Formats: sequence, structure tokens, C-alpha cells
Amino acid sequence: MKALVLAGGTGSRLRPITHTSAKQLVPIGNKPVLFYGLEAIRDSGIREVGIIVGETGAEVRRAVGDGSQFGLSVTYIPQEAPLGLAHCVLIAREFLGDDDFLMYLGDNFVIHGIRDFVTEFLARRPDAQLLLTKVANPSEFGVAELDQGGRVVRVEEKPKEPRSDLALVGIYMFTPLVHRIVAQLRPSARGELEITEAIQELILHQAAVSSHTISGYWKDTGRVEDMLECNRMVLENIAPRMEGSVDDESEAVGRVDIAEDAVVIRSRLVGPVSIGPGTVVADSYVGPFTSLGSGCRLDHTEIEYSIVMDHCSINGVSRIHNSLIGKNVEVSPAGPAPRGHQLVVGDHSRVRLNY
Ligand code: TTP
Repeated sequence: MKALVLAGGTGSRLRPITHTSAKQLVPIGNKPVLFYGLEAIRDSGIREVGIIVGETGAEVRRAVGDGSQFGLSVTYIPQEAPLGLAHCVLIAREFLGDDDFLMYLGDNFVIHGIRDFVTEFLARRPDAQLLLTKVANPSEFGVAELDQGGRVVRVEEKPKEPRSDLALVGIYMFTPLVHRIVAQLRPSARGELEITEAIQELILHQAAVSSHTISGYWKDTGRVEDMLECNRMVLENIAPRMEGSVDDESEAVGRVDIAEDAVVIRSRLVGPVSIGPGTVVADSYVGPFTSLGSGCRLDHTEIEYSIVMDHCSINGVSRIHNSLIGKNVEVSPAGPAPRGHQLVVGDHSRVRLNY
């Protein structure tokens, strides 16, 4: 059994972060979201992983390497453009050979891993198996309709009138049968080879498509609010750690994770909070559900429910919340006069000011 991890794509909903970085490498609890997936794959017993990469391939390769840090053997499969989830299966044909495979969207996050899902597939070996979860807003997802035995009788992409509230989590199992279907797919209206279409074709060909419904936490981290919510979830369960230093004039309450060489001076930390290596927090308040990356500097600032990536400098800002701040960002007060905001922000940025 192999795994195919999708780490290409456009990431348009996460701009401007994705202008320069892979969305799968945005840190959740100070660890790239993709790493949680790779660890879950390893824990399910799979060792051989193909990773689909696009424009941000170099960054993904740098972060994941040959996979040995995860106990995996990784092969990279470049995709010329984001031509759809089923296109990824098409171009991975040689890597996948005639093995069964797990397909995992690299920006998905599942709290309890996928071991049960893989074990169930191995026990029954249907032609395909889908991971499903109940959602409140099914028309925003791929939706599966099941018969009484839990067999999938129909899948539809973002249906206007959903036939169930069971959404497809971006994790699937396939036997090599899927390759025959994928080879015959035509691009959809949005110009992509759709995996839901391939699954629907399997069903129409009388293939056995089974399902496994998870009740635990799942997030597709495609949007900023999903990233922040996922960060909240991970920080809630983070193991407390104190490898940096907190001076006597500071106070740290709740669950705090302070990495090596981090320094906290005259500040208040209210967990859950994660502070990366070498980050300095001085005369500041860092509130619940905040992750600060490595090499950051915070002075006279208040921040909560936010993700700050590496090497940012934030000085004299109160108060930041609900924010995702990319790498090497500088935020500081403007000069005295004239009164006003001075912005140097990249394309597709969002700035919300509150007086
Ligand atoms: P999506 O989140 O559906 O697509 P996207 O990355 O293009 O994002 P957006 O809608 O914001 O523009 O993709 C799910 C995962 O699959 C994600 O990790 C990117 C990856 N992917 C590929 O590797 N190749 C592709 O052709 C597509 C469509 C997605």
C-alpha cells in the first residue's frame, strides 16, 4: 500500500500567504499542517509516499526531504499546473503502479489520525473507500449519499440540494481500478479532473465504494479562519514545555509551550500559547490560542487567537486578534504626524483597522 499526498494547488483562499509559500506548510501549533498528515500516514503503517508538488515544490522538498525524519520514503511528483485532484492520480500512475493507495489532501487535518480508516479498508478491500464527516453546511463540500449498509450510492460536488449531511473529508482509499476511470475523465466546467466524478463513475460501474464516518475533529485548512480554528484545537492539546526563559516580572498562566532560546520579559502569557525558538516577547500580552514562530520579536504588543510565522517584528500594537501573519512581517506604529496608517502590503492582503 502506498500513499499519495497532494501538496500542490493554487491556495487562492489563503492569499497573500500562498503568493510566496506553500499553504501546506503554514504552521499549526508551530508545526506545518502537512507534517500532521505525514505522521498520520506513517502511524497507519504506510511507508512509501508520493507527494504531488506545484509551484511551491522547492519549499515542500526542503521541509520534508526524503521523508526519513517521519520514517517514510518520499518520492516527489511535479504537477505542471493545478489541474484537479484526479489529475494528481493520473500523473502518479507510474509511482502508484498496481498498488492500493491512500490519497490525502495535504491541507487536511484529522485529530485522531487515519489508522482505523486504513485498517477497515484492509479488512474489506472495497474498490474505493471514502472518509466522511457530518457537517452543518454540506452544500460547500463534496457530499456522499449512502444506502442502509453504509455503501456509497452517489457523490456530488457542492450540491445545491444536498441529499445528506455527510461531507467527503479529503482522504480516500483506492484500488488500481480507479486508474481506468481516471484515464477517461474529461475536464469539468472549472477545467479540472474531478475526483468526485471519478468516484461517481466507479459507482456507475457497479464498483464497491464504501465509507467510514469520523466523529472526531476534521478541518480543511483552506481559509484563514480554518487555520486559526485548527491552531486553537492543536494548542488546546499541546504539551506544556519550558525550554526558554521567563523573567520574574512575567507571568505565565495556563498551558504554555516555550521553545529553546525564547525569552519572555515583563510580559503576561495566558495559554494555550506556543512560542517558537529564539523569539523574544517583551512588555507584551500573548493571549489564548496564539502561536508565535521562531526568531520573532514582540514589544509593547497585545495579541491573541493568532498565528505569527517566523522572523516577524511587532512593536507597539494593541491589539491584534484573529490574525494570520506571514514570515518576515514588520508591524509598528506610524510616525507622529500626519496621523494615519501607512501600509506596505502584498497583493490580495486583507487589513482590518479598528480605531
Ligand atoms: P484545494 O484546497 O481544493 O485547492 P487549492 O489548493 O487550489 O486552493 P484554493 O481553492 O484556495 O485555490 O486543494 C486541496 C489540496 O490538494 C491542497 O493541498 C492542494 C492540493 N491540490 C494539488 O496538489 N493539485 C491540484 O491540482 C489541486 C486542485 C489541489
